[in-house]
Amino acid sequence: MNYPFSSKIGLGTWRMGESDQSQKSELKAIEYALSIGYRLIDTAEMYAKGNAERLIGKALKNIGGNLRSSITIVSKVLPHHASKNGVITACEGSLKRLGCDYIDMYLLHWMGPYPFQETLEGLQLLKEKGLIKNHGVSNFDQAALKKWLETEKSMDLAEQNSTVTNQVYYALSARGAEFDLIPTLIERNISLMAYSPLGGGELAKHKGLQSIAKPLGLSAAQLALAWVIRQPNTVAIPKSVSISKIFDNWACTDLILSKDTLGDLDQLFAPPLAKVPLAVI
Ligand SMILES: NC(=O)c1ccc[n+]([C@@H]2O[C@H](COP(=O)([O-])OP(=O)(O)OC[C@H]3O[C@@H](n4cnc5c(N)ncnc54)[C@H](OP(=O)(O)O)[C@@H]3O)[C@@H](O)[C@H]2O)c1
Repeated sequence: MNYPFSSKIGLGTWRMGESDQSQKSELKAIEYALSIGYRLIDTAEMYAKGNAERLIGKALKNIGGNLRSSITIVSKVLPHHASKNGVITACEGSLKRLGCDYIDMYLLHWMGPYPFQETLEGLQLLKEKGLIKNHGVSNFDQAALKKWLETEKSMDLAEQNSTVTNQVYYALSARGAEFDLIPTLIERNISLMAYSPLGGGELAKHKGLQSIAKPLGLSAAQLALAWVIRQPNTVAIPKSVSISKIFDNWACTDLILSKDTLGDLDQLFAPPLAKVPLAVI
C-alpha cells in the first residue's frame, strides 16, 4: 500500500454542525478548504449526530460533483454499530447524509463490543457493494492493532483489502504513539492519521512553541503541524472553522523542519522513553 493520501494535511470536522447558528460559517469553512486544495475531510457518524456529515454533503454539492473523485472522505462507524449488519446500516446512513455514493476510508471509531471478525465481514461486504473503498481503525494501540491485523490475516484478506490507516491522537503534547505504535505502522505499511494535531488548539497558544516558531516565520500551530507530518506516511487533520487558520494550516503541507528545530522541540516535548497508554480524546 502506497501513501493513500494526496497531501499531508486534511480537515477535521468534529464539533461542526452542533448549532444552527454556526452552520453557515462552518459550511463556508469546508468549501473554502476545498477551494484552496484540501483533498481529505475527516468526519464520523457521531459528530453532531450526523450533522457534520450533512455539512460536508452540502459543501460537496455546492462546489459541484466534479471534484468528488479527487477528495478522500473519511468517516467512522460507532463501536456499538459495528456488528456485521450494523456496519452496513451505519455506512448507508453516513452515505445518505454525505450525499455520496461511496466513502473513501471507513474506520471503526474505537474498539467496541463486537468481535473484530464480525466488523471486518461487514466492512468487506461494504467493499463488495462498492460503498466504501478502504477501511481502517481509530484509537487502536499497538496490541489492538496487532489483534485486528491477525484477524484480517485469519480471514485471508488480500493485501488490497486490508487496513490502510489507524487514526490516533498524535501531537507534540501526545507523543506516546512513537514508542511502539508508529514503528508497527511503518513496518506494516499502514498510514498514521494524526487527530487533534494541535492538541485540541492548546498548542497554538503554547508560549515555548511560539518562541521556537517565531524566528522561523511560523505560528506555533504551523510548527506543531509541520512536526506531526515529518513522520513518513502521516497525514494530520486539524479542525478549524476560520478561513485564515485553514489557510495557515494548509501552508504547512510542504514544510520541512531542520534537525536543530526538531531537537529544540524534543527539549520542549520529550519523546516517550517507555510504553505509555495511547492518548485518547
Ligand atoms: N478518531 C477520533 O477519536 C478523533 C478524536 C478527536 C478528533 N478527531 C478528528 O481530528 C480532528 C482534529 O482534532 P480536534 O478538532 O480535536 O483538534 P485540533 O485540530 O488539534 O484543534 C482544533 C482547534 O485548534 C484551533 N486551530 C486550528 N488551526 C489553528 C491555527 N492555525 N491557529 C490557531 N488555532 C487553530 C481550532 O480553532 P477554530 O475551530 O476556532 O478555528 C480548534 O479550536 C477533529 O475535528 C476530528 O475530525 C478524531
